[in-house]
Amino acid sequence: MQVFNEINALKQALSSERKEGKKIGFVPTMGFFHEGHLSLMKQAKNETNCVVVSIFVNPTQFGPGEDFESYPRDLNRDLKLCEDVGVNYVFTPDVSEMYPTGYSTYVECEGGITKTLCGASRPGHFKGVTSVVNKLFNIVEPDLAFFGQKDAQQVAVLEKMVRDLNMNLKIIPCPIKRENDGLAMSSRNVYLNEDERKDALVLSQSLKIASELIANGETDAKSIIDQMKSHIMTASSAVIDYVQIVDNSDLSDIDTVKGEVLFAVAVRIGRTRLIDNMRMTI
Ligand code: PAF
Repeated sequence: MQVFNEINALKQALSSERKEGKKIGFVPTMGFFHEGHLSLMKQAKNETNCVVVSIFVNPTQFGPGEDFESYPRDLNRDLKLCEDVGVNYVFTPDVSEMYPTGYSTYVECEGGITKTLCGASRPGHFKGVTSVVNKLFNIVEPDLAFFGQKDAQQVAVLEKMVRDLNMNLKIIPCPIKRENDGLAMSSRNVYLNEDERKDALVLSQSLKIASELIANGETDAKSIIDQMKSHIMTASSAVIDYVQIVDNSDLSDIDTVKGEVLFAVAVRIGRTRLIDNMRMTI
């Protein structure tokens, strides 16, 4: 495994791999790996023969007052995990390598898809994501790029960017990884204290409630959302950011649950904002 922090050196190495006919699989991350990240790397390993992982906590996708500074980091542990999975290249640039003095170009997906769900409470977040992922795609030039479905809106926005800008790669959404009790894996779960860790279960439980209601024939989105919210409110540290049921294709709100839908929740548990979701075809 080779580790690069300079863009040009990585580009050169990958250009040789490409000349040898290698198919490049790319896993962009912000590090502090859990099983979810490792599953993306393993899937990349199965579907391609040259796996590149980037580890970069991207400042432009954090808003003022968000957790950029305190975002958990452990590069040595991450590198060891990449090595164990059989990753070929790790890219760990400094902020100044990605955003040198004078940097001023951004890629922004406009319209409802970035304004709803997390886009409503994190203005500018998706502009930061599309900009950095666009840069990373230009640096790595992958054939396939692997993203976790836990960030369902991120996947939808990036798929749209790839379509809109005719990018020559395919996004592969990968299933959410969960702890045994249902909590979706997230690097931010380390922020939770013991009580909050218990309270955090209301996110996945609310999705289970929704799927049970659907199984019993309920199709009224408002009624399902109300019951999901009531359950989430039973946790004393929970403050709801959003509970929404949206059309999976454009993330617009729906009144009647039918077709390809996404149930999405964002809840503050103490000071930690957690998200979870479930996709369903009804
Ligand atoms: O999902 C993440 O970890 C980040 O948003 C990504 C895609 C690596 C861009 O910084």
